[in-house]
Amino acid sequence: MTNNPWNPTDYDARFSFVTELGEELISQVDPQPGQRILDVGCGTGHLTAQMSKSGATTLGVDSDPNMIATAQREYPAAEWLVADFQELNPEEIPTAAFDAALSNAALHWMPHQATVLRNIRSALRSGAAFVAEMGGSGNISTVDTAIRESLVACGLTAELPNSFFPTVAEESQLLEQASFRVDEMRWFPRPTPLNQGETVADWVANFRAALWNELPASTRELMRAEIESRAEQAGLFRDGIWYIDYCRLRFIATAI
Ligand code: BEZ
Repeated sequence: MTNNPWNPTDYDARFSFVTELGEELISQVDPQPGQRILDVGCGTGHLTAQMSKSGATTLGVDSDPNMIATAQREYPAAEWLVADFQELNPEEIPTAAFDAALSNAALHWMPHQATVLRNIRSALRSGAAFVAEMGGSGNISTVDTAIRESLVACGLTAELPNSFFPTVAEESQLLEQASFRVDEMRWFPRPTPLNQGETVADWVANFRAALWNELPASTRELMRAEIESRAEQAGLFRDGIWYIDYCRLRFIATAI
């Protein structure tokens, strides 16, 4: 299964909640003039660009070239890099060069989490903060169940993308093994409303695009109907609005 093939325009226009709900992380990073700040999995770069407004120098890194191309077009003055923290070349990111790191809604796309955390740690100076939000245990389990059951009902076989949704204990252990001290970590359910007019199937077509794009075009309408019916029965459609059953992990860790 390949990485999710993102559509940066849809990501920003139709699913802007991903960026908006990550804005709180910036105050926890508290970027200061002259600091160098790393954004891991920066997507279209809006949070990275907000951090540079404080006078900090930022580097936004994402493995998706389309996302980075959009970030570069919108914020040409900032620094951007296409790279995957799961398989970083040593020359790509300098060692101990950053005063803080932020990551919003990205770490769960990286099942080789131990390697990712080691690479982030190596980019940070000792004492630097790493502030992140990611999918935690139970994340989108209702939606994924609706997808799995719909595939069976439609007589299709397709694999769900490989996601990493750890518990507090699992992510804390991985951070400690990568030489971070975990200062705060919490898990919380965050049922998230979609924009009016968007359905759970629209979300699946974008956020589970690696699977969706593999389905024969002739089965997609049937899959839409199956997913929506199952997700509605499971309670994801309330008062005319679709919800995604996100569960988040938020943490602040310090490089030691
Ligand atoms: C998320 O938790 O943000 C997420 C996880 C998997 C697919 C899409 C989004």
